[in-house]
Amino acid sequence: MQFEPVLTKGIGKVDLTNIDVYEAQGGYQALRKALTSMEPQAIVEEVKKANLRGRGGAGFPAGVKWGFLPNDGRPRYLTVNADESEPGTCNNRTLIYANPHQLIEGIIITAFANRITQSFIYIRGEFKRGAEILMKAIEDARKKGYVGQNILGTGFSQEITVHRGASAYICGEESALLNSLEGRRGEPRVKPPFPAVVGLYGCPTIINNVETISNVPHIVKNGWEWYTKITANPSNPKSCGPKLFTVSGCVQRPGNYELPMGVTLREVIETAGGLRPGRKLKAVQPGGSSTPMLTPEHLDVPMDFESVAAAGSLLGTAAVIVYDDTVDLVDVALYWTRFYSHESCGQCTPCREGTHWLERVFARIKAGGGTEGDLKMIADMQTQMAGTTICVLSDAAVTFPVSLLKLFPEELERYINRVKEVRPA
Ligand code: NAI
Ligand code: SF4
Repeated sequence: MQFEPVLTKGIGKVDLTNIDVYEAQGGYQALRKALTSMEPQAIVEEVKKANLRGRGGAGFPAGVKWGFLPNDGRPRYLTVNADESEPGTCNNRTLIYANPHQLIEGIIITAFANRITQSFIYIRGEFKRGAEILMKAIEDARKKGYVGQNILGTGFSQEITVHRGASAYICGEESALLNSLEGRRGEPRVKPPFPAVVGLYGCPTIINNVETISNVPHIVKNGWEWYTKITANPSNPKSCGPKLFTVSGCVQRPGNYELPMGVTLREVIETAGGLRPGRKLKAVQPGGSSTPMLTPEHLDVPMDFESVAAAGSLLGTAAVIVYDDTVDLVDVALYWTRFYSHESCGQCTPCREGTHWLERVFARIKAGGGTEGDLKMIADMQTQMAGTTICVLSDAAVTFPVSLLKLFPEELERYINRVKEVRPA
C-alpha cells in the first residue's frame, strides 16, 4: 500500500545514526520548536489531542499518563522502556539501531513537557550494540547543545543515562524495570500505586516505550491534527498514527514494516510477502506471544487497538506471528509455555506453579501421553492463572493454550491417548 513512512523514513537509505544526516532530514527541529516557542503544558495537550497510544503493548494514552504526574515538588523521572522482550517483537530494536536521534529528540521534548529532572533508557542486555549506538548518539547530541546543561540556551537541562538490563523478560514489566534500575531484584511491584505517582526512587515516573517516545517529535513538529489523520481506518478515531508491525513466522519476507494504524491484517501479511506458495493460513497471533490467535476469517480486521480487541485478541506490540497449515500448534504451545515458565519471577503461586504445570502438560501431550483430563485442566488453569497475580505474565502464559483449546481442539485431541493406542494395556 502507498504510505509515506514517518518513524522509519530514511532507514536503509541514509545513515541516521550520523547526527548531521538526521538534522538534514529535519531532525531536532521539533526539539527547537518545543523548547523555544511552546509551554510545557501545551506539549502535553498536543500529545493528548493526537491520542498517542502507548506502543509497548497496552495502548494506554501517553498524554493521559503524563497528566497523572503529581505536582508536589518531588523530582520526576522519565524511563524509556527499551527492554523489548515480547517474543516476535523487534520494532524498538530497529528504531534504536537505525534512528537513535529520533528517540533522543523525543526524550528531551517529553522531559521538557513534563518538567522531568533526569531521563533513563533501560535497554535489554542483548542490545549491546544498541546501547553503544545510543551512548554515542547522546554524546553527539550533547556537542550540538541538544542534551546536557542549558539546552539551546533555554535554561532547560536534561541528562540521559543508558542502563543495560540483564536479559530477564520480566524486567520489561514497568515496575520490575524500576526495581532493576534501582539495583534490586527485577520483580514487579503491586499496583496501584502506579509509577506515575510512586515510581523510580519513590518519585513520580513516566515510563514509555521506545516507539511511543519516537512519535513525539513528529507530533510536535506537524501538529496533532496531522497525526490523527494517519490511519487506514478513519471510522475508528481512537487509534491512529504510524505503527511498526513486526511480521514473523510463515511469510516470505519477515521483518519490520511501518504502516498506518488500522491497516488490515491481510495487508500486513501481504506487505511481508504473503504466505509461501501453496500454503494456507491457519492462524495469526496479532500482537506477540501473549495474544490470542486470530483465524483466516479475521483477515480483514483493521489492525488497531479497538478492532483487534473486538475480534477477540489484542494488538499488543503489533508483533504479527503467522502460522500456516504446516505448523503444529501444539509445538508452538510447548514453546511458549516453556518460555513463560522460564521467565516467571516466582513471586505469585498461580504463576510460579501454573507456568511450570502448563509446560509439563504440553510436554506430556506432545510426547503422546496426554489425557482428556489435560484438556479440562488447561481450561481450568485460565480461571486460576488469569487476573490472580501481581502482573500479567501469568495471564499471558495461559493465553495461547486456551486459544488453542478454543479454536483448534482437534490439534490437541490428535495427541491424546496416543501412548495407549500404540501400547495398549
Ligand atoms: P497496563 O494496562 O496495566 O498499564 C499500561 C500503562 O498505563 C502503564 O504504564 C501503567 O502504569 C499506566 N496506567 C494504567 N492505569 C493507570 C492509572 N490509573 N494511573 C496511572 N497510570 C496508569 O499494562 P502493563 O501491565 O503495563 O503492560 C501490559 C502490556 O505489555 C501487554 O499488553 C503486553 O502486550 C505488553 N508487553 C510488551 C512487551 C514488550 O516487549 N514490548 C513484553 C511483554 C508484554
Ligand atoms: Fe512474577 Fe508471575 Fe507474579 Fe508476574 S505474575 S509477579 S512474573 S510470579
